[in-house]
Amino acid sequence: MNELAEALWYILPAYFANASPVIFKGKTPMDFGKKFIDGRRILGDGKTWRGFFGGLFTGILIGIIQYQIKPDFYGSFSVALKLSFALSLGALLGDLIGSFVKRRIGMERGYPAVGLDQWGFLISALILAYPIKTITTGQVLFLLVVTPFIHWGANVLAYKLKWKSVPW
Ligand code: CTP
Ligand code: MG
Repeated sequence: MNELAEALWYILPAYFANASPVIFKGKTPMDFGKKFIDGRRILGDGKTWRGFFGGLFTGILIGIIQYQIKPDFYGSFSVALKLSFALSLGALLGDLIGSFVKRRIGMERGYPAVGLDQWGFLISALILAYPIKTITTGQVLFLLVVTPFIHWGANVLAYKLKWKSVPW
């Protein structure tokens, strides 16, 4: 694999963890409907427990499949497991931080926040995964450039498949 393909391979669990909650979408919101001191919802109805754990599970499953396909990339199964867990958890936490910020600036649930929606989950996933397996600065830059396009493409697809009510 060349350096750029390796970067996409590395980040794959984060992409799946970020995209799959739309399929799992649950009922119980992670903030339990509670409001923050500003009177707005802490996170909003778009962040559910089922979506969170479904995303975590999917991301780890992708990591396990990746290990079967390319064990040399990880060195050991435990690294593959830890890496996919860190990438998935990071992606989901980044998404929650994004929703928290959006609610604070008064954006309604589902409203697109350009930048935050595409980079928040990515940066958070990279930070959590970095201590487990590093990538080069060039690979990080490449992911920063391509992820917004992949995010956009995945959301249009989810909209066309009627998984999402809006194409963003
Ligand atoms: N979702 C979920 N649980 C999560 C994340 C997402 O159930 N932890 C589901 C919700 O049904 C959500 C959909 O996936 O509406 C799309 O996710 P996203 O675009 O991140 O949420 P938004 O609805 O846009 O909400 P927000 O404005 O808070 O980002
Ligand atoms: Mg959204």
